[in-house]
Amino acid sequence: MTSPVSESPERRVRPLVVAIDGPAASGKSSTAKWVARELGFRHVDSGALYRAATAATLRAHPDSGVWTEDRVLAAAASVSLAATDTSFQARVAGREAEAELRGAEVTSRVSIVAKMPRVRAWVNDRVREAAEGHAIVVDGRDMGTAVFPQARVKIFLVADPWERARRRLLQRLERLPTEEEIAEETDALVQRDAKDESQTQRANDAVLIDTTYLTQEEQVERIVALARRAQKGRSPDPAG
Ligand code: DC
Repeated sequence: MTSPVSESPERRVRPLVVAIDGPAASGKSSTAKWVARELGFRHVDSGALYRAATAATLRAHPDSGVWTEDRVLAAAASVSLAATDTSFQARVAGREAEAELRGAEVTSRVSIVAKMPRVRAWVNDRVREAAEGHAIVVDGRDMGTAVFPQARVKIFLVADPWERARRRLLQRLERLPTEEEIAEETDALVQRDAKDESQTQRANDAVLIDTTYLTQEEQVERIVALARRAQKGRSPDPAG
C-alpha cells in the first residue's frame, strides 16, 4: 500500500513535545497546565504517574516495608492515563483520584517508588505513548533528558527554596503564611530536593528559567513564545 504524500516520512511532523523539568514546588505543573491550555496541547504530569503507582501499591500493600519493584509494578497495572480535552490524567482503577494522589500518605512514600528503575521505565513508556498521537506539555524531573532527549522545547524551572515554600503555603492555606511557617516548609522542601536529587536532571540544551521574581503569567508567556517559535520551525515547507 502506498502512503499519501502528506504522510510520507519526510513530511510527517511528529507532535511537538514541550518538556518542563525542575525541583518540587517550582511551579512546573501549574505552569505546564497553563502553557498546554494556551497552545491547545494536552498536559501530562509525570509525577502524577509516580503518585498513582504509589497509591495503587498502598491500596494493595499498606505497609511500604514490603514494597518490591515487582509488587509496585503489579499494582501499577491498575493505573491508566485517560485523555481529557486538555490533559492525560493519571487514574487508579479507572477513576480520578486527585485527593489521594496529593495526600500525605502518597507524598511521604512516592520517592521509594520513584527510585525503582523498572517503575521509571514504566512511567516513561506511558508518557511516550501519550506523546505519540498528540502534542503535549509534560512536566517532571527528567523529561528533557531520559524521556524526550529530542524534545524541541526544554525548560528547566528553578526558584529560591524560600519563595517555593511561600507559594506552596499560599496555595495550601489560602492566606499569607507566617515567617515561621515558611521556614518550616523550606526545610521540608530542601529535604525533598535531596531525596529527588538523583532523578532531577537538567538537559544541557534546556532553557533555564528562574521564577523567583517572575509572575506565573510571565513564565507562561516565555514558554509559549519558545513553543510557538519551535512550531514554526517544524512546519513542513509549503513549497517543498
Ligand atoms: O512532582 P511531584 O511532586 O508530583 O513528583 C512526585 C515524585 O515523583 C517525587 O518524588 C519526584 C518523582 N518524580 C520523578 O522522579 N521523576 C519525574 N519525572 C516526576 C516525578
